[in-house]
Amino acid sequence: MKFFIDTANLAQISEAKELGILDGVTTNPSLMAKEGVTGKSNIYKHYKKICDIVSGDVSAEVISTDFAGMIKEGKELAMISDNIVVKVPMIKDGIKALVEFNKLEIKTNCTLVFSAGQALLAAKAGATYVSPFIGRIDDMSWTGMNLISDIFEVYSMQGFDTEILAASIRNGLHIVDAAKAGADVVTCPLDAILSLLKHPLTDIGLAKFLEDHAKAAK
Ligand code: E4P
Repeated sequence: MKFFIDTANLAQISEAKELGILDGVTTNPSLMAKEGVTGKSNIYKHYKKICDIVSGDVSAEVISTDFAGMIKEGKELAMISDNIVVKVPMIKDGIKALVEFNKLEIKTNCTLVFSAGQALLAAKAGATYVSPFIGRIDDMSWTGMNLISDIFEVYSMQGFDTEILAASIRNGLHIVDAAKAGADVVTCPLDAILSLLKHPLTDIGLAKFLEDHAKAAK
């Protein structure tokens, strides 16, 4: 399973990269706004900075919601760097745009996916990645992770090669459950990735090893 970081924060992207386990980055307009990056030119420069840090796929989302606008914007985004993946919303014109980007050999990530039916359409349209939003479904008191299993079942049965990118990940348990449910990729905040490191028995065990080593050395 690939690990992507879900942020536009350059320091966090660098920190995750230094861990040596980072395969890519996802962003969205809200994450860009959180970093205070505004205006098309600054946003594109920021994507370039992200692509200079990470060699893997970097999702950059279109703002347009009409077919022509999405294609124009997607082509511009794809020009920024070879590792840009154009993120397209799950709407009618988005499906048409996924088909067109596929013909143009531009990688895509179909975002805002909340049902297996939407994921089926995205795969049929040739999306490189599909992004089911786990945390936002959990927020509605439904079990978001069931969606990953459902999509995995549909894609496996039908032989689609669209990669399941588990998004809206909130914690380490989400990451492990997404792995168990068959996600190809998880995109996570840095804190969720780092939470996988933590176990009290690891801390207690290490302290004891170091204590015994120090005692023996006396
Ligand atoms: C990533 O591609 C998504 O935009 C992101 O994971 C959404 O996460 P959120 O639900 O925490 O905003």
